[in-house]
Amino acid sequence: MIKQNKRAPSALAGAALLGLMLVVSAPPAEAGAREQAKRMYDRIAGVPPTEAELSTMLSVMDVNNDGITDSEAAAQAAAQLALDSQGFYNVTLKNMATPWTNEEQTMFADLNDFTATVIGVVRDGLDFRQVLYGDLLYVGTNGSLPAYSNSDNDHYVALEASGANLGDPGVLERRTQSGVTGLASSATAGVMTTRAAAKAFFVAGTNRAMFRFTMLNFLCRDLEQVKDTSRAPDRIRQDVSRSPGGDSRIFLNRCVGCHAGMDPLAQAYAYYEWSGEEGTDEGQLIYTPNQVQAKYHINADNFRYGYATPDDSWENYWRAGPNSALGWNSNPYTGDAGMGSGAKSMGAELAHTDAFAQCQVKKVFQTVCLHPPTTSADHAQVSSMVTNFEASNYNLQTAFTDAAVYCRGD
Ligand code: HEC
Repeated sequence: MIKQNKRAPSALAGAALLGLMLVVSAPPAEAGAREQAKRMYDRIAGVPPTEAELSTMLSVMDVNNDGITDSEAAAQAAAQLALDSQGFYNVTLKNMATPWTNEEQTMFADLNDFTATVIGVVRDGLDFRQVLYGDLLYVGTNGSLPAYSNSDNDHYVALEASGANLGDPGVLERRTQSGVTGLASSATAGVMTTRAAAKAFFVAGTNRAMFRFTMLNFLCRDLEQVKDTSRAPDRIRQDVSRSPGGDSRIFLNRCVGCHAGMDPLAQAYAYYEWSGEEGTDEGQLIYTPNQVQAKYHINADNFRYGYATPDDSWENYWRAGPNSALGWNSNPYTGDAGMGSGAKSMGAELAHTDAFAQCQVKKVFQTVCLHPPTTSADHAQVSSMVTNFEASNYNLQTAFTDAAVYCRGD
């Protein structure tokens, strides 16, 4: 068992940088077992291993102590040990997930209910697809922390400041989101209905931002990359002009590309709103069952014959046409119908794509290998990581150890 690291997050971040510099300044072409173990640990934990941690890993991956890694499987087992480090949870996972929680995509933000939930789902080896539709939320257990609040982030700021190990189930525990926040269980949709996501993506606007950033962060596709002007425009809302600048060709050649597919999917969020003002920290998630939020009907005069959202039913026009390449699979709530009601089943629609699995694996590859997959060997590695991720019932830990083993000699 690897000793837990008790340093404060800021010191960890500094140490992570130092670790990076060491890796960059001295990469031997043919690294021995010791170098490889050290590199795997650095990449997974974001900080260098202690001497004790290193020797524990070596006792697993170089049993006969000849300085050569015994096998890929042995390296995998050693990488698994590094997942027990505090740095993996408090630094690596937190830094990976934080950019998904704000429009600026910065990793310099406090821990929040979104990032804590991603960290917990990985730690517990849960089906990672739950992040887009599960009724779950991870909270701190320490009674001296401010209690979780629907209207501020103080609980997570204090939890992070405490420096406690988020990899410890006695520190960060799994709860139902409905139980913690009071949101109806059927209205929960993983991290999309966390306070942090609502604050970032349901604020102002028309709730299309939540859809755009979910696609970007969890399917690795910005809308530019999924534009398809061949879909029917019948569900495009009234606020989208049919002749922008007096030219209907612009609508047909550009606006339809995103809005024909996006608007009927983002309809799933029709009952959600953020109470606070843009640019402020105050506010909370609002959910009004059976009542469409006013933001779905703003600027209705832009095109009065456009689609007036009546409820939160969604339809996926992108199962057909060029975006069938995203690899839509059976949805646990709606099968292959490509339609349903509310954010939970729509989140499941997105999470059960091939693109979702590939996206998580690519992000882990980038995090651990410190570069995106580029060579044909890298791409083959990503494919095999996707296969293993799926075979492990979407346990993201497999992607971390696979990537660490693959990049241990870089
Ligand atoms: C690349 C995809 C894409 C294309 C093409 C596109 N839109 Fe949008 N549109 C979006 C997204 C995403 C949002 C949500 C923006 C947000 O809230 O962050 C949006 C929002 C809107 C809104 C709501 C107002 C707002 O700013 O939130 C209107 C109106 C709109 N688009 C009209 C149009 C028109 C007219 C065209 C064609 C000239 C067009 N869009 C082309 C993606 C697109």
